[in-house]
Amino acid sequence: MLETVEIEPTFASWRVKARELLEGGVSPEDLIWRDRSCGQEDLFGEVAPVPMRVRELNFTVPKAFFPLAETVACHSAENRWALLYRILWRLTHGKERQLLFVSTDDDIRRASYLAKEVRRDCHKMRAFVRFRKVGESESGREQFVSWFEPMHHIVRYNAPFFQKRFTGMDWSILTPDECAHWDGEILSFSEGVSPQEAPNGDALEELWRSYYKSIFNPSRLKLKAMQAEMPVKYWKNLPEASLIQELAVKASIRRDRMMERETKAPTPAPKNLYLQRLHHQNTVPAVRETDAVSMPETLEEMRELASCCRACPLWDRATQTVFGEGNPDAEVMIIGEQPGDQEDLAGHPFVGPAGQFLNEALREAGLDRKALYVTNAVKHFKWKPAGAIKGGRGPRRLHDKANRAERKACRPWLLGEIARVKPRVLVTLGNTAAESVIRPGYRILKERGEVTGPNEIGFEGRIIATVHPSYLLRLRDGDERNAARERWIEDLKIAADALG
Ligand code: URA
Repeated sequence: MLETVEIEPTFASWRVKARELLEGGVSPEDLIWRDRSCGQEDLFGEVAPVPMRVRELNFTVPKAFFPLAETVACHSAENRWALLYRILWRLTHGKERQLLFVSTDDDIRRASYLAKEVRRDCHKMRAFVRFRKVGESESGREQFVSWFEPMHHIVRYNAPFFQKRFTGMDWSILTPDECAHWDGEILSFSEGVSPQEAPNGDALEELWRSYYKSIFNPSRLKLKAMQAEMPVKYWKNLPEASLIQELAVKASIRRDRMMERETKAPTPAPKNLYLQRLHHQNTVPAVRETDAVSMPETLEEMRELASCCRACPLWDRATQTVFGEGNPDAEVMIIGEQPGDQEDLAGHPFVGPAGQFLNEALREAGLDRKALYVTNAVKHFKWKPAGAIKGGRGPRRLHDKANRAERKACRPWLLGEIARVKPRVLVTLGNTAAESVIRPGYRILKERGEVTGPNEIGFEGRIIATVHPSYLLRLRDGDERNAARERWIEDLKIAADALG
């Protein structure tokens, strides 16, 4: 007979129960797992206790299971508890000790997928939570609040990140699921709050300003009562993806400038970047206080964030975002147009035929690809089906040129890459890259070579504009292609010489 197990929807609660059941030898097939949440007792009535079939069993669970299980537990999929218990059972009673490494196994595949979705949600929360200052504590600590709507139950799991990064300020992150609060000493949690009852942002701030001091102390926090008087606003923290990215990148550039000034500042600034910004508010251009949160600090974080980019419609038909890669301290950055068919599938720039052609030319010009950073002006593959062009047939995806809006939407990523890698030389390949970096309407065949005068992105190093390898690959005439290739290598040599 099937037995129903009700648990609090937390990893800790599942873990206790799972251990009990495992020790009792209760097989996964005999169980139905349910979340114990509001009103559920009424729906399902009394839950029969699970009978224990006590067994003498000595089992150990592979260590790697716990981080996976803890992550999967945050997912909102109803069947996550059953899935985790099944895996646990197989690892112990089924003696499938290597199960976690069998990536083709259905249970492991599903668990990995859920874990990935949770991590992605966590990352979005880290990138897009926007704190608003609502006051100061009696001891002078600044107090902030933010609203966020996660897809999964990640507040508890993700809160230590915010505690670490924003340790110097008091904050609350409110979500419909659960709220997290930090007062400099204690990280605490309270029930979720409802977005439907939300007034507008200003009203929220006003209300928070007047209530915050009295309610912030977690031991005094009475969210239910508070909500009655002070409904929480649903305030969209992602007004528009492209705008956020642009702000984020600008913020990072400003932050980098701040860091430079910081080295000259007479008084030491706090370590926390956010506090550094406040510290410098009198000496640097005003910075929105929320920007620090939205800007990933590292290329890796940017890459992860870019994987969710929806700033233009290209993401929809592409397999994935193809972010730049290579030496993070490169002196030369190569900027192509957009990923091609193979790059789109592989997730790496310049790995198809154009990439091979480029690699050889770089070598001949005296540039080692491993020492460079290689990226594209547009990070998604834009394509049309072969059948869409006259005389075309078959399932092939044909490259389609990105338009101005798409280039513009993607530019913050490129700016972010440049701000982090800090190359001395940019090499643009083809018209699209040149138009993104130098100016719209730049015609590579007429104006190629070293760029003089202002450029679209305010880059202060050297810029070499040259043709795209695909242009050379399209030239049918062998002599013409050879000559064009020679000239191309001459352009690349300017970049190589610039380093010498
Ligand atoms: N063409 C490009 O411009 N970039 C790539 O990554 C591949 C082909």
